Amino acid sequence: IFEQPSILADTINAYYDAESSELNFSNLTIDFSKITKISIIACGTSYYAAMVAKYWFESFINLPIEVDIASEFRYRDSYLPENGLSIFLSQSGETADTLAAMRYAKQKGQITLSIVNVKESSLDREADFSLQCFAGPEISVASTKGLTTQLTILLLLTLHIAQETNRVSKLEISRKLQLVAEIPGRISEILNNVESVKVIAREVAQARNTIFIGRNYIYPIALEAALKLKELSYIHSEGIAAGELKHGPIALIDENIPIIILAPQNNLFEKTSSNAQEVAARGGKLITISSAEGNASLKNLSKYQINISHSDALIEPIIYAVPMQLLAYYVAVCKGN
Ligand code: BG6
Repeated sequence: IFEQPSILADTINAYYDAESSELNFSNLTIDFSKITKISIIACGTSYYAAMVAKYWFESFINLPIEVDIASEFRYRDSYLPENGLSIFLSQSGETADTLAAMRYAKQKGQITLSIVNVKESSLDREADFSLQCFAGPEISVASTKGLTTQLTILLLLTLHIAQETNRVSKLEISRKLQLVAEIPGRISEILNNVESVKVIAREVAQARNTIFIGRNYIYPIALEAALKLKELSYIHSEGIAAGELKHGPIALIDENIPIIILAPQNNLFEKTSSNAQEVAARGGKLITISSAEGNASLKNLSKYQINISHSDALIEPIIYAVPMQLLAYYVAVCKGN
């Protein structure tokens, strides 16, 4: 977790030359103007990275984008048109379902691109094209720097495809690249202020169930936060799209369940705030993760808060993933796991 600022700087440098302001995907000799559909396939944490990428791709690339879990995709009859591009995400490069899904996509004539951390892994070797994450070894099963490097590459790849297909002006691309360059510093800031996360971890460690809520591109981060917590602390945890809360899950809310609301201060902040009010009205133990200003407006509702410096919406999924990794880690430490 604490290696992320330096590793992400390395990953960014591998695909973006800050001096010339140019993206560097020279090995990716795909004619993106001919691509008819993009599918992104993965398992676990890598699948949540794929979900975030769908929001980015849809914002910048005018193509049908499909995201699927590898163990579903390989047994489905997904529409795979000629000149379709299938992207496979995997930290290890060896996950059996993801590998089988790639072989299936190849059989169906798809162009295959893997994004893996482990060089010379099966997914790296078998794909038509491959990009490496440069995260270094992931010692534990739970992927942390694996996730944030995948996300960073996916964001740079989105900008590369947008540039190659002339969807976004050069000026706009270089503005977005400046935001990407801010990521390591913003993550350092979070890692230098872990006290509030430790306090919350002590509370969450007492719970039997927890719920994480997010909206839009932060929704997959809520899913990832729940996965990380259950995988490290053995506490049952669910990630829920904020707007879905009222369609059933609200029945679970009582004073014993910590509800962690990921509410970056963006154009959907008011919507997520109203979900926070629904939770508070049912006596839920609310923990809000937002900018200082966003948290100030939620102060009367939430029991605990984590402040994250306000940043552009584009990079927020990468930034907000980190306090969630810390929370899972400190809860696991509290429980002696
Ligand atoms: C699972 C792990 O077995 O594999 C998850 O428990 C992980 O943490 C998932 O995200 C996918 O792994 P990979 O290596 O394909 O990204």
